[in-house]
Amino acid sequence: MEEQRPPLIKLEELHIEIINPFHSVAYFKSYEQELVDFLIEDAFDNQKKQISITYLWFLKSNKELIAYVTVLADAISLQGEIKEYFKQKGIPYKSLPALKIGRLCVSDRYLGRGIGTLMIEFVLVLAQKISKEIGLRFITTDAKRNANPTRDSIHFYKKFGFEVLKQREKGTIPLYKDLIKE
Ligand SMILES: CC(C)(COP(=O)(O)OP(=O)(O)OC[C@H]1O[C@@H](n2cnc3c(N)ncnc32)[C@H](O)[C@@H]1OP(=O)(O)O)[C@@H](O)C(=O)NCCC(=O)NCCS
Repeated sequence: MEEQRPPLIKLEELHIEIINPFHSVAYFKSYEQELVDFLIEDAFDNQKKQISITYLWFLKSNKELIAYVTVLADAISLQGEIKEYFKQKGIPYKSLPALKIGRLCVSDRYLGRGIGTLMIEFVLVLAQKISKEIGLRFITTDAKRNANPTRDSIHFYKKFGFEVLKQREKGTIPLYKDLIKE
């Protein structure tokens, strides 16, 4: 018998706020401990230093913090095939502007309910909005590998059209998504 999936959470059920010192983030739980530590120790501090902005996602019904996404400015340095591709499109530059997803995490209790998808859509809307004010061509991220295929964030990002920028033997894999993909 097929396992029943919990219902998807809709955007209308959520409330998004930029992190401030009055938010309690200490109870946030994820199997990726590094992402919990970043939220508790660095997210607000980095924001104060104008390094990144962290959006906290709360359930409206009980005000529970269930996810967060951190974004910052970035640039892709064009090399090899990608450089050639853009050269042929009349774009001869060495690097191009990007918006980076620095961190993106859903709390363990709410995994698989569509919140990761909503956060990617949120970043896409944000990127399109910013691209009307300053030049912005890509969304980038460094995806974490995981031996467990249900926890491999590379596959998660690929679902949304992210491509591998550079293959690496170890550590995170840099991914990018072109905002103008024909
Ligand atoms: C990756 C992550 C954000 C996905 O969030 P989520 O809310 O569970 O994702 P969704 O419910 O929106 O799932 C969207 C799709 O991606 C798939 N998916 C979800 N997590 C996945 C993962 N880790 N690896 C591969 N596929 C994944 C789902 O099965 C779903 O596909 P389907 O619609 O075909 O079934 C979440 O697993 C997470 O926070 N992981 C820990 C932190 C992390 O790895 N962050 C990313 C790198 S910084």
